[in-house]
Amino acid sequence: MKKLLVTGGAGFIGANFVHYWLEKYPSDNVVVVDALTYAGNIANLDRVKNKANFNFVYGNICDQALIEKLLCDHNIDTLVHFAAESHVDRSITGPDAFIETNIMGTYSLLKAAKKVWLEGERIFEKHRFHHVSTDEVYGTLSLTDPAFTEDTAYAPNSPYSASKAASDHLVRAYHHTYGLNVTTSNCSNNYGPYHFPEKLIPLVITNILHDKALPIYGDGQQIRDWLYVEDHAYGIDLVLQNGRVGENYNIGGNNEWTNIEIVKTISKLVEQEFLKNKELSKCFPNAKAAMEENTESLITYVKDRLGHDRRYAIDATKTNNELSYKPNESFETGIAKTVSWYLNNEEWWQSVMDGSYQNWITEQYS
Ligand code: NAD
Ligand code: DAU
Repeated sequence: MKKLLVTGGAGFIGANFVHYWLEKYPSDNVVVVDALTYAGNIANLDRVKNKANFNFVYGNICDQALIEKLLCDHNIDTLVHFAAESHVDRSITGPDAFIETNIMGTYSLLKAAKKVWLEGERIFEKHRFHHVSTDEVYGTLSLTDPAFTEDTAYAPNSPYSASKAASDHLVRAYHHTYGLNVTTSNCSNNYGPYHFPEKLIPLVITNILHDKALPIYGDGQQIRDWLYVEDHAYGIDLVLQNGRVGENYNIGGNNEWTNIEIVKTISKLVEQEFLKNKELSKCFPNAKAAMEENTESLITYVKDRLGHDRRYAIDATKTNNELSYKPNESFETGIAKTVSWYLNNEEWWQSVMDGSYQNWITEQYS
C-alpha cells in the first residue's frame, strides 16, 4: 500500500492521475498539494474529494516547511511531481513564474524529500520521487529526424522547456549526489478531460461551440505527438511500480499530427455529434454546426509563436520494452471521448473560462 503526495493534482494531468490511481489502487492514500493557480481547479477533484483516503492541501511547492510537514504527517513514501507552469505561450510573455515554480519549486521539493526521507528520524528506504517532465526538453525535430529517445541531448528552446530541463537536471543531481530514489518521465502532448482551454485541443473545441475563430499559429504544419491523458497516468504507474531508480522514461503514443490536421479532425467530429444529437443545437445555438454551416470556416491563420518548435516525436521503445508499456487509447477513440466530454461538461469549461471556479479559494481563505 502506497502513500502518495501528488503535487499539482488539481491541474489537468494531475487530476486525471489521481482519478486513475484511486480507481486502480483504492486502498492507497493520496494527498494532493496544489497552489490553485489559474490552471488549478478544486472541482477537478470532485470525484474523489469525499474518500477517506484522500486529502487536499492548498499550498505552494516552494514552501519547503509545508512539504516536509506533509511528508511526515502523512508518512508519504511516494511523491509524484506534476506542479508546474505549463503553457509555452505564457512562458514567452512572462517567464518569471516558470523559473519560480518549475525550477525553485522542484528544488524545494527535492530539499524537503532529502531532509525527511534520507536524514529524518525515520529513514524511508523505500521512498520514490517521481518527476513528471516533457518531450520539449529535447528541443525540436525536422520532418526526417528520428524521434527523441532518452539519450537525445537536451536542447530546450522556450523559457518553459528550459525551466523543465533545469528541474530535470536537479532531480538527476539529487539522485547521483545524495542517493535520492528518483525517476523522471518525459511525455509528449496530452489531451483529454479537464484540459485547460488555453491549450490547442480544448481551445478549438470550446471556440467552435462559441462560434469563435480557431487560431492557427504560422502555417499550421507544426507536428505534435498526442497521447490520451489516462495513458500518461498508466505510464507513470508502470514507472513507479517497475522503473529503475535514476532512470528517465519516455512516454508517448506514436501519434504524430500537424496542428491543422488536429483542428480539421475536431471540426468534423463536432459536426458529426451535432448531426447525431439534435439537442446540441439547442445548447450551442451559435455553433456553425447548429446552423449546418461549415465549421472549418472558423480557421484563422495568425502570427506564429516566437521560437515555435516545429516537430516533437517520442520514441518510447525503452518504456515499451522494459515496462511493457502500450497506450490503451487510439487517437480515434481518445479524441472522440475528449470531444464528447467537452460537449457534456459545459459547466466545467464555462466556469474555467469566466474564472468563477476560483471562488473556492475566496470562500475558504477570506
Ligand atoms: P496544468 O497547468 O494543467 O496544471 C498545473 C497544476 O500545478 C495546477 O493545478 C496548478 O495550480 C499547480 N501549480 C502551479 N504552480 C504551483 C505551485 N507553485 N505550487 C503548487 N501547485 C502549483 O499542467 P498539466 O498540463 O497538468 O501538466 C502537469 C505536468 O506535466 C507539468 O509538470 C508539465 O510540465 C508536464 N507535462 C505536461 C504535458 C501536457 O501536454 N500538458 C505533457 C508532458 C508533460
Ligand atoms: O509536448 C509536451 C508539451 O505539450 C507540454 O510540456 C506542455 O506543458 C503543453 O502545454 C504542450 O505544449 P504545446 O506548446 O505543444 O501545446 P499547445 O496546446 O499550447 O500547442 C500545441 C500546438 O498548437 C503548438 O504547435 C502551438 C499550436 N497552437 C496552439 C494554440 C494554443 C496553435 O496553432 N494555436 C493556438 O491557439
